[in-house]
Amino acid sequence: MSPFIVTRTLPVDATGADLRTDVLQGLGRDPKSLPPKWFYDARGSELFEEITRLPEYYPTRAEREILHARAEEIATATGARTLVELGSGSSEKTRILLDALPRLHSYLPVDVSESALTLAAESLLAERPALSVHALIADFTRGLTLPGSPGPRLVAFLGGTLGNLLPDERAVFLKSVRALLLPGDALLLGTDLVKDQATLIAAYDDSAGVTAAFNKNVLAVLNRELDADFDPDDFAHVAHWDSGHEWIEMRLRARRDLVVKVRELNLAVAFEEGEELRTEVSAKFREDGIRSELAEAGMELSHWWTDEAGRFALSLSTPA
Ligand code: SAH
Ligand code: TRP
Repeated sequence: MSPFIVTRTLPVDATGADLRTDVLQGLGRDPKSLPPKWFYDARGSELFEEITRLPEYYPTRAEREILHARAEEIATATGARTLVELGSGSSEKTRILLDALPRLHSYLPVDVSESALTLAAESLLAERPALSVHALIADFTRGLTLPGSPGPRLVAFLGGTLGNLLPDERAVFLKSVRALLLPGDALLLGTDLVKDQATLIAAYDDSAGVTAAFNKNVLAVLNRELDADFDPDDFAHVAHWDSGHEWIEMRLRARRDLVVKVRELNLAVAFEEGEELRTEVSAKFREDGIRSELAEAGMELSHWWTDEAGRFALSLSTPA
């Protein structure tokens, strides 16, 4: 076994308690909804990796293009000795940064998905024995305490995952990120940009049906963890562009009237035919909006880079 360190910031059963609360609240609401972090069990993390390779899912390729083009600038601007990565998943694109940061001492990936985190940390350690890797199984929306490591610190939040938080949650989250930064530290943020509806919808409703399987995987998580009896075939995957909020909304639409039992919660949940459960939003951004959300949280955007086609942006910010 590799000697990397894994820290679990939550007690093991806290995740179970969280899931119960989220499901009770979310399925009791009208319209029904579920928070997105429950997608990412081992199967969900695998399906997400498959999504990143789909022809329609441009964000991963666009962000990788920017990282390749700008890694040296990022290294020069930050001089980072510690790289913290929130929602690191497979850490696949992160390798571009790890290669480009000459002074890097520590890498601290943070994710709720224990399986993704462990796989990533193991292979990184095998590839880079000199790098200190300390993986944190934690919910980044719950306020983070990081282990000691040398500064300057670069906090990376890639993949457009910021867009999976609702605006109020984003404001709270960005303030908690700001609280991690000392003078000289920086935030590297990946955000998907507003663009034509057809491109956006295709990215979240691919022809091979991988995103549909990913969306429905949350039902399998509920079946397993809470002894529920969702039949994934009773639901259709829906990707809807909300042009007012400028976000994609992922939904599961009941194909018929049905009642689902969630035995662990002593709950029976009725769905009417056509009723939709909101499983995820993926907000799309504009430069001005990001700049002001960062300013609101006490950070100043210093660099804004996009891919050649202008689909995705990477920005660098420092504590104001
Ligand atoms: N950064 C990778 C993965 C993005 S997918 C990339 O750009 O490809 C989003 C990742 O965030 C998943 O690995 C998921 O497990 C993680 N995640 C989602 N919500 C989280 C939360 N609340 N706390 C910690 N990790 C979370
Ligand atoms: N952060 C990713 C995004 O918003 C997550 C994601 C991609 C996703 N495809 C999805 C989440 C489909 C739910 C369903 O692009």
